[in-house]
Amino acid sequence: MAIPQKGCRRMIKRITYGAPFDTEAVTGAYESWQGELPYFSQEEGRKFSYRMAEEDIVFGLGENVRGINKRGWIYESKCSDDPNHREDKRSLYGAHNFLIVDGKECFGVFFDYPGKLTFDIGYTDRNVMLIEAQTGDIDVYVIEGEGPEDIAKQFRGLVGRSYIPPKWAFGYGQSRWSYMNEDEIREVVKKHREAGIPLDSIYLDIDYMVKYKDFTVNEETFPDLAGFAKEMKEQGIHLVPIIDAGVKIEEGYDIYEEGMAGGYFCKEEDGSEFVAGVWPGRVHFPDMLNADARKWFGGKYKVLLDQGIEGFWNDMNEPAIFYSEKHLQEVFEQLEEFRGINLDNEASASLNRLVGGLSNNEEDYKLFYHEHKDGRVRHDKVHNLFGYNMTRAAGEAFEELEPNKRILMFSRSSYIGMHRYGGIWTGDNLSWWSHILLNLHMMPSLNMCGFLYTGADLGGFGADTTEELLMRWLELGIFTPLMRNHSAWGTRRQEVYRFTQTGSFQKIIALRYCLLPYLYSEYMKAALRDEMMFRPLSFVYAGDRFARRVEDQLMVGESIMIAPVYEQNAKGRYVYLPERMKLVRFRGPEDRKEEVLEKGHHYVDIALDEVVFFIRPDHLVPMSKGGSCVEKVDFDHLGLLGFVEKEGSYELYDDDGYSRDYESPSHYTQITVDAEGRISSGGEGSRKEFYLI
Ligand code: GLC
Repeated sequence: MAIPQKGCRRMIKRITYGAPFDTEAVTGAYESWQGELPYFSQEEGRKFSYRMAEEDIVFGLGENVRGINKRGWIYESKCSDDPNHREDKRSLYGAHNFLIVDGKECFGVFFDYPGKLTFDIGYTDRNVMLIEAQTGDIDVYVIEGEGPEDIAKQFRGLVGRSYIPPKWAFGYGQSRWSYMNEDEIREVVKKHREAGIPLDSIYLDIDYMVKYKDFTVNEETFPDLAGFAKEMKEQGIHLVPIIDAGVKIEEGYDIYEEGMAGGYFCKEEDGSEFVAGVWPGRVHFPDMLNADARKWFGGKYKVLLDQGIEGFWNDMNEPAIFYSEKHLQEVFEQLEEFRGINLDNEASASLNRLVGGLSNNEEDYKLFYHEHKDGRVRHDKVHNLFGYNMTRAAGEAFEELEPNKRILMFSRSSYIGMHRYGGIWTGDNLSWWSHILLNLHMMPSLNMCGFLYTGADLGGFGADTTEELLMRWLELGIFTPLMRNHSAWGTRRQEVYRFTQTGSFQKIIALRYCLLPYLYSEYMKAALRDEMMFRPLSFVYAGDRFARRVEDQLMVGESIMIAPVYEQNAKGRYVYLPERMKLVRFRGPEDRKEEVLEKGHHYVDIALDEVVFFIRPDHLVPMSKGGSCVEKVDFDHLGLLGFVEKEGSYELYDDDGYSRDYESPSHYTQITVDAEGRISSGGEGSRKEFYLI
């Protein structure tokens, strides 16, 4: 197989084995290829192997454990509710089956397959990549191009435009599982406002509902949600409620009754509704793969939209199963066998296995079915499409209910294709230093797969955080589109005002708001052009042998490189500069220091309360003066922070942030700054004013 020549763009090839299930991930053009599968050898249309050269790097797989370079471990596409994101795990909540091999040969490959898929990337044999599906019904797309960046762009064109959230969703969000009532939330907002900490959203976790029933609101603790949403909005705050996948089984509960009457829930082989246990106890799962059920479930979001809600997060949609009613009964019976016996090593291990095996058990996913347009299908064969279609249900409903308004939507579980309807957050991480780095690793991998609106639970979801950890994490989080502090019930509270250095937190978060014109512009250009907002250094500095291997720095948009601190007690860190760059050091918006560093390796001091980033030569970063919420940020008078050697230029995108009109040329302003500091700007969006900072 010849390596494609520079400038020679080929069609994306699709090779079909067997009779694949239509995942609807792909919306763009490709060529149905009748010849052999390029690059790989295959067996039974189910096992695909590729011999890797020593220098090959493997990018992709979206939300997953380990590094940006995926080589050296084995991964599974099997959407799982697993709150222990340890290195030895093989899957998290998403299934993102896209890879780019970059080395001796360079190509991208997408395995469009909705069931479990294994990616052994040098685990069994360091030099062999082996992808194995359960059955021989699969579509494989092969993409060739000028390099990884071009391949990622072509892939994104194939799977369609990424979701675009409202502008306010780029503000800071505060969340916690256990905000129990209106007053508690008022207090959280007040404390942020008193300390001058910008804030745009408060998330409502499962506690706002009545007994964890979707689309209900507990009237004792939230007596007037519409009034409360209005009151919050007057303070610049959006309430963002959670929606879970399972619908509580309860006579008289309208959603349950409508679902039963319409036949919208997933059924077992004998035609009875499948019963699983999640937060509300026994639930049924809406059949998200059935278009009628999807339309019905999506329409329910109106209950909350009508009360002034403008954003949601979809959860437990792998779907998570604490137990299935069937399996639970079996376990109760088997437990009897342990009564009275001496629980030695083997016996206590099997007791633990028995009880531990209740949740997210693979066998349970074989018990229920979907009524898909192409016929009845057992859940495990299409498992990875459930969360995707739950979010699609909402996304399609929003298009109908709010045709010209952007609604915030992000999901926990996902498959490629879902990126058109919503973003994702990366689930239940821990307050661990290594999870800051994991957050960084996931950003470019997710971007390749189409997920642009994304971010981690800043400060860590599980386990107790520390002030230092949270501060360092926020110094990365101010760059991620979704910037949300979220933590689990029972862990140490981590709203930033609870710590001693509130002023430092305030300055870091305030800086996010100053960077918004740049970050929003970079996000929108990436979405509208099928590009990545977060790129590994190697995508930009292809020939640089050091840049190729950097795993803890990223390019954010066209002008900035970041190198966050992710180690406890660190006073700084080593940074590799692939070219001469300007280091900027912020202690809040007003306190800035700059220094030009030459290409090469540097140790950079970074105090705990400092944000440091790097600007590429002849690049600009438009900045605002900040604001207490996104609505208060002035996007029309912007300071230009730049590293101008000859002439700096920047293409700025901006729009009203709320409507769905993205195409107008008036959204763009072209800015240049010459070596003498003279600014000129043009384009239809040129009513904006710029000044040097
Ligand atoms: C899941 C979610 C988490 C949420 C919790 C309670 O663990 O991932 O974000 O707080 O459920 O709803």
